Amino acid sequence: MNQPKDKLIAALDVDSQEEAMAAVERMEGALAWVKVGARLFSATGPSVVGLLKQQGLKVFLDLKFHDIPATVASACANAVASGADMINVHALGGRAMMAEGAAAARNAAKASGHSSPIVIAVTVLTSMGPEDLRLLGFNQSPEELALHLACEAKAAGLDGVVASAHEVAAIKKVNGPDFVVVTPGIRPAWASVDDQKRIMTPAQALGMGADFLVVGRPIFAAADPKAAALQTLKEMEEE
Ligand code: C5P
Repeated sequence: MNQPKDKLIAALDVDSQEEAMAAVERMEGALAWVKVGARLFSATGPSVVGLLKQQGLKVFLDLKFHDIPATVASACANAVASGADMINVHALGGRAMMAEGAAAARNAAKASGHSSPIVIAVTVLTSMGPEDLRLLGFNQSPEELALHLACEAKAAGLDGVVASAHEVAAIKKVNGPDFVVVTPGIRPAWASVDDQKRIMTPAQALGMGADFLVVGRPIFAAADPKAAALQTLKEMEEE
């Protein structure tokens, strides 16, 4: 995991299998990881995961499960059986939900001969700021709540969390260097902010200790997505 390429997860936020596969083809090997989220998955179902795996890519299936523990456990097992290398649940679903989801994911990997998936929890969405949390009834800052939820995820036996790059250092300090932190809200110096609120550049996020960077629109909404991916990888090297 030393190459920038192994730490960059490109978010395939498109609406069909055709668009997803065309986007990957245009990348001509520039990527090692892609992310399939609710947008693409709700259009294609799990078959797209298998197709991406056939292209030699690793897949983060970002479906952010949040339901009763038994339902999440089955969903996690199905997600792993589809071939996903990384899956996630919402930490706000609670410790039992996270623990049962992770156990089911690991059992499903064993049963289907897949390597053990990275199971992580979403802490606080990077599109949410302090006022959004206050409206939901939380008194903590996004940083405080993310750290608290990361500790809950660790206690539930998860491999790591999704969090803003602003929270990585505190999360690693409390939960140890091996606790994986995946950071969206990454904006290369040349990219627009979009709806993300807690952002950092690729080099800043790696400098904070992030293990994986999730980058979507700065790559796929660019006029030349492959050039944007290569430029992002270059910025990661500047860490
Ligand atoms: O286009 P952009 O780089 O903002 O895309 C970020 C991706 O990461 C989106 O697919 C979004 O769903 C996802 N994500 C996020 N914040 C989280 C978890 C996932 O932005 N906390």
